[in-house]
Amino acid sequence: MQETIVILDFGGQYKQLIARRVRECSVYCVILPHTTPLEALRAMPLKGIILTGGPRSVRDPQSPTCSSTVFSLGVPVLGICYGAQLMAHILGGSVRKAQVSEYGNADLILDASSGIFRDVPQTTTCWMSHTDRIERVPDGFAVTAHTADCPVAAMEQAARGLYAVQFHPEVVHTPDGARMIRTFVREICGCSGDWQMSSFVQTQTEWLRERIGNGRVLLGLSGGVDSSVTAALLSRAIGKQLICVFVDHGLLRKGEADEVASVFGAGGEFDLQFVRVPAQQLFYDALAGAAEPEQKRKIIGEQFIRVFEAEAEKIGAVEFLAQGTIYPDVIESGSGGAVIKSHHNVGGLPNAVSFRAIIEPLRSLFKDEVRAVGRELGLPESLVNRQPFPGPGLAVRIVGEVTAEKVRIVQEADAIFREELDRAGIDTGEGQFFAALSNMRSVGVMGDDRTYAYAVVLRAVLTSDFMTARAARLPYEVLEESMHRIINEVRGVNRVLYDLTSKPPSTIELE
Ligand code: XMP
Repeated sequence: MQETIVILDFGGQYKQLIARRVRECSVYCVILPHTTPLEALRAMPLKGIILTGGPRSVRDPQSPTCSSTVFSLGVPVLGICYGAQLMAHILGGSVRKAQVSEYGNADLILDASSGIFRDVPQTTTCWMSHTDRIERVPDGFAVTAHTADCPVAAMEQAARGLYAVQFHPEVVHTPDGARMIRTFVREICGCSGDWQMSSFVQTQTEWLRERIGNGRVLLGLSGGVDSSVTAALLSRAIGKQLICVFVDHGLLRKGEADEVASVFGAGGEFDLQFVRVPAQQLFYDALAGAAEPEQKRKIIGEQFIRVFEAEAEKIGAVEFLAQGTIYPDVIESGSGGAVIKSHHNVGGLPNAVSFRAIIEPLRSLFKDEVRAVGRELGLPESLVNRQPFPGPGLAVRIVGEVTAEKVRIVQEADAIFREELDRAGIDTGEGQFFAALSNMRSVGVMGDDRTYAYAVVLRAVLTSDFMTARAARLPYEVLEESMHRIINEVRGVNRVLYDLTSKPPSTIELE
């Protein structure tokens, strides 16, 4: 039973970042809906609660709220933005529409010494994004910081362990924010920092052995970081009871299917039971005519399961299906907030599957934690540091309908782009770099002829958590050389575009 911080979700876009910051303090946390019953909270090894931001106004009676008992469960509570306003509102303070909406950086001036601002300079920068503001703090609370436009930028009632900040300590634009979160979870909540990847491997191995018993487990192995780490963990826990199935859905990068088979298959460096299933045509047929991204994801999720079921049938007596689902997949597939994308191994799965249970040993981990587990398990750095590749593969890098022709174009363009990045010695470790295919065809001229062909989109983003990302400032020569080669070497392309958009507002993949 791990010491746990619960992040109650009021619909804020930064909830995942809050969770990241807490985990960086070696403290386990979960994001739960704001409607989570009090009994469920009481049943956990709860050390503290964080209330997220959210798009609504606490002045609207329809807005999400929580029981006032949340503030007297005996654990400290930190309210952030909407969460701060909610704390004020529920405990008898008042919240009003601000005269000026504050958005962006602001100077934060500390008014009183406060436990949560330990080691924070008297004036620092914070990131604000709000329309309402706390007008009057509840009885017993003290104002601990303000900005030029926000008289209550922070308040607290330290004796009850209640803290609230109007700004966002979880974003990098609040440079002292990570320190504040650390002080909250480690000092104020008293978490000892027992969330370590070495103990994760140990406890998870024991749990898997107990859960699986003598059963057989089929794992969908794609060769990506998540499923490879899942394979290593399961292999440590249950050895030969694990069968890894690699579905070649025809949506992998150029040459990738053979690479995966050579690493994990017979004669490779891992001693796993490995089955390669050629399923290109099956996937292309199922996807024919589907242009809408969520529909494509659902189709792919469904096909994966059907292939796994068919393989399990051949092998016989397979009880469990394992997947390399990780925490961001779970969050982005909709755990309360808006569904951005149904990740194929979460929301993309059909309801009815013929396995006794689905096992997802990495379901609670963030990407860097998955990598740390991989290292703990002795996986090579080349594998642990691989660029992530989405389960639905190139289908989410081809806008609109998927055809064999479009797959060929994007595979070839992508291979060229990656070769050029390699040649220029660009470090791709901290992001994702790939070619995608827009659904746009436009007019061009090649030789003396008119062309009407596709536009390839080059995407290169830098990110540490895949939640937010910005376009890499690639050297112009790399872009230009990639463009020349793609135009000359890939049939069916007459335009190459570089995608400059950050996430948000766009996402990393095109669909
Ligand atoms: P987006 O496009 O949402 O991507 O900014 C964030 C990260 O998630 C990966 N991604 C997926 N991974 N199944 C996966 O296993 C999926 O359905 C999926 N969709 C996106 C994406 O490559 C990026 O690393």
